[in-house]
Amino acid sequence: MKHTQTDDLQQEDKQMELINSLSMEDVLKIEHPELLLNKVEPFSRLMMQYKCAIMEIETKLQVLNEEFSMNYNRNPIEDIRTRIKKPLSIVDKMKRKGFPFSVESIEQNLFDVAGIKVICSFPEDIYTVRDLLIKQDDITLVEEKDYIKNPKPNGYRSLHLLVEIPIFLAKEKKAMKAEIQLRSIAMECWASLEHKMKYKKDIKNADEISQKLIRCAEISFELDKQMQELRSEIDEDNPETQY
Ligand code: GTP
Ligand code: MG
Repeated sequence: MKHTQTDDLQQEDKQMELINSLSMEDVLKIEHPELLLNKVEPFSRLMMQYKCAIMEIETKLQVLNEEFSMNYNRNPIEDIRTRIKKPLSIVDKMKRKGFPFSVESIEQNLFDVAGIKVICSFPEDIYTVRDLLIKQDDITLVEEKDYIKNPKPNGYRSLHLLVEIPIFLAKEKKAMKAEIQLRSIAMECWASLEHKMKYKKDIKNADEISQKLIRCAEISFELDKQMQELRSEIDEDNPETQY
């Protein structure tokens, strides 16, 4: 008998039906649940909605940067990087934190599925961007962690905002949570290099290395302070670049 494209489509439909009939508990029993998760419709739908929330926030940031650059002739935002948490990381975190496994539970318990990283030019820009963003009437600030004023013991500095933003779908308006991390170029440099070394196992002199990393964080903080001072000096003589 001839194999047709319609046969393939019907076969795929049957597979989808089977996958959709699985409960999340069934999914978790499978060896690589993340591969299957991507095919489960409610999960893919939720990920699509997080993607939309990221698009909304990214646009808001770009708009602020555009206007700022017109008004003051400079960009407070150097770079915006976004990511959706990978299915495997979602599965891992749910297991690690002991949350019940369901699409609803992801939404209720994981607040960093949608992630936006904002790299600012100068430390003061971080707070300018934060203020301009959260004063907008469709954004709600749910939680704020200021690791710049209170750095982590390892030296990590950044401003973390947990926000809620509506997305407008065909039949509903839905509030989505997203995690925004704001940091300076120097803080990003440190965090990015520290992240690369975090997963190296069997390190001799781990304590000494931690001390050196703290020292590096302090050096980059000093660099930020001095660059900010220079920026402020320049602004004093050029009121048109001053926010
Ligand atoms: P979770 O329950 O895992 O979200 O912990 P938390 O909410 O206490 O984490 P927190 O909000 O402090 O940090 C979350 C994110 O910030 C991480 O996923 C990283 O992206 C970033 N981050 C936090 N601490 C560090 C750090 O020490 N080094 C680096 N490179 N990144 C960090
Ligand atoms: Mg967190």
